[in-house]
Amino acid sequence: MAKPKKVYFCSECDWEGPKWQGVCPGCRRYNSIPEEPRLDTPGPSRPIGMGVHSGNGAVKPVCLTDIDATDVKRIPTGISEFDTVLGGGIVPGSMLLIGGEPGIGKSTLTLQALGLLQENGVKGLYVSGEESAAQVKMRADRIGGGARTITYLGETNIEAILDQASRMRPDVLLIDSIQTLYSSNVDSEPGNPSQIKRCGASLLSFAKSTGVAVWVIGHVTKDGSIAGPRMLDHMVDTTTYFEQAGGQDFRVLRAFKNRFGNTNEIGVFRMTGEGLECVDNPSELFLSQRRANAPGSAVVAVLEGTRPLLVEIQALATEAPYGSPQRVASGMDRKRLSLLLAVIEKHLGLQFKLIDVFVNVAGGLRISETVGDAAAAVALISSVFDRPIPHDVAILGEVGLGGEIRAVSQLERRVGELARMGFKRVYVPIRSVPRGGMEGIEVIGVDTISDLVDQVLGPLEMREVIPAEKLEREERSTNGNGKSRKRGSRRELVFDE
Ligand code: TYD
Ligand code: MG
Repeated sequence: MAKPKKVYFCSECDWEGPKWQGVCPGCRRYNSIPEEPRLDTPGPSRPIGMGVHSGNGAVKPVCLTDIDATDVKRIPTGISEFDTVLGGGIVPGSMLLIGGEPGIGKSTLTLQALGLLQENGVKGLYVSGEESAAQVKMRADRIGGGARTITYLGETNIEAILDQASRMRPDVLLIDSIQTLYSSNVDSEPGNPSQIKRCGASLLSFAKSTGVAVWVIGHVTKDGSIAGPRMLDHMVDTTTYFEQAGGQDFRVLRAFKNRFGNTNEIGVFRMTGEGLECVDNPSELFLSQRRANAPGSAVVAVLEGTRPLLVEIQALATEAPYGSPQRVASGMDRKRLSLLLAVIEKHLGLQFKLIDVFVNVAGGLRISETVGDAAAAVALISSVFDRPIPHDVAILGEVGLGGEIRAVSQLERRVGELARMGFKRVYVPIRSVPRGGMEGIEVIGVDTISDLVDQVLGPLEMREVIPAEKLEREERSTNGNGKSRKRGSRRELVFDE
C-alpha cells in the first residue's frame, strides 16, 4: 500500500492541500490552517462505511447521489473459495471474524491467504498470542511461497499491537486469536467478555480509521457457538465460520453475515500436507460417496449463497425396538422432520408409530432451506418400502401441511446444476416448471406428495403393516407383565411389501 501523505487542511472550511499556507485559499481566513499536517493513506485505505470527513476532521453530511458506490475496492486473496465467501476479496478498512473449533485450520487458512497476498505486494501482519514465531514459521514452511515472508508479532496486549500496527501500516492485520488479547484498560482476564468487547472495539476503530483490513480469529465452544467472539458479530462487517464437512479432510467456510457480499456463501477446501486446497466442484464432493440405487437416498439442489450445491439426503426407517420410537435428524431441522412425518401419515396413510426414523444430510452439511422437504419425505418412504429412487433422479420442493409441493426459489439455477452433474430427471413443484423445459434434463411438475411418491417410486400399497400377533408380542415384551396395552385399531406400515 502507498505511503501516507501529508495533507494540510483548513479548520474553518473544506479546503485541503499539499502545502501549508498562511491564508486559506478557500475561505481567505488567516491562520486557519494548522502547521501540523494530517497523515492520509491514499487509495483504498480511506475508511469504508464511515462518514465523509471535512478538512477539520469532522464528519459532514453528504447527498447519496454524490457517492460512488463502486468506490468499494476489493483485493482478491487469490484463494478462490475464500474470495467467494468474502464477496470478491478483502475490503480495506473492514473487519472479518473467522470462527471455528480449535485445530480446524483457521491459522492455516489465514496464513496461506496472507502469504498469497504478500506475493502480490499486499502486506500482512500476523499477530499471534497462541503460537511462537518458530511454530508459525514451521507452518509457513509447510505452506511455502509468500507465507514465509510474513511479519510475525508475538504480542497479546491490544494497545501494544495497535501501536506496532500503526507504525508498520500493513494492509491486513491478523489477530490469532481474540481470546488471547487483553487491554491494559480493562481489569479482567483475556477471553472475558469485557476484554473481548474492548479489544474488538479497538480493532474496529483501528480498521475504520486507518483503512487496514482486520481479520480476527475466534475459537468456538463445544456447543458450536462462537463463544465470546459472537459478541463481536454486530461490530464486524463479515462473520465466517470454518467447519468440517464432506469427510475428514474437507472444510467448509461459511459466511453468516457479510456487509460486502452474500450471506450463506460457502467455500469448500481440502486439507492437504501443504495447507488448504480449493475444491472447485463441491457438488461432486458431496455426492462422491453416494451408493447407486440404495433405498433411502435422495438428491436435492440447495443454494448456498449464490451457488447451487447438490447434496444427498439419507433416510432410514426401522422397526422400533421399544415403545417410543426415535426421531433423529442431522443436517436438517428436527421439527421439519416431525412435520414431514405428520404429512406422510395424514396424506399417504403411512403410520410411523412403531418406526424409528433417522434422516441425515450426507457429508456433514446442514440444510437451512425447505427445498429438501420433498426429497427427505420420498427418501423416507423409499427406505420403508426398500425401493430405491433411481440414481439419476433428483427432487426439489417444500412440503406444505396440506400435502402440496410448494414452489422453489431460483429453480433454474438448481436444475442447471443437476443437469451439469449428469442428472436426467428432476421432480419439481408444478408451478415452478420452466416454460420450454431445460436443456439436458427432464423437468416434471408434481402437485402433491402422493403424486410425487407415485411418480418416483411407482404404486405402493399402504396397508396394515405389522401383523396383529406381532403387535401383541411386542406389547407383552415391552410391558414385561404379560398384559397387553390397549392399542385400538390402527394402521401400521409394512417393511416388505
Ligand atoms: P490450524 O490451522 O492450526 O487450526 P486452528 O488454527 O483452527 O486451530 O490447523 C491445524 C491442523 O491442520 C493440524 O491438525 C495440522 C493440520 N495441517 C495439515 O494437515 N496440513 C498443513 O499443511 C497444515 C499447515 C496443517
Ligand atoms: Mg490456530
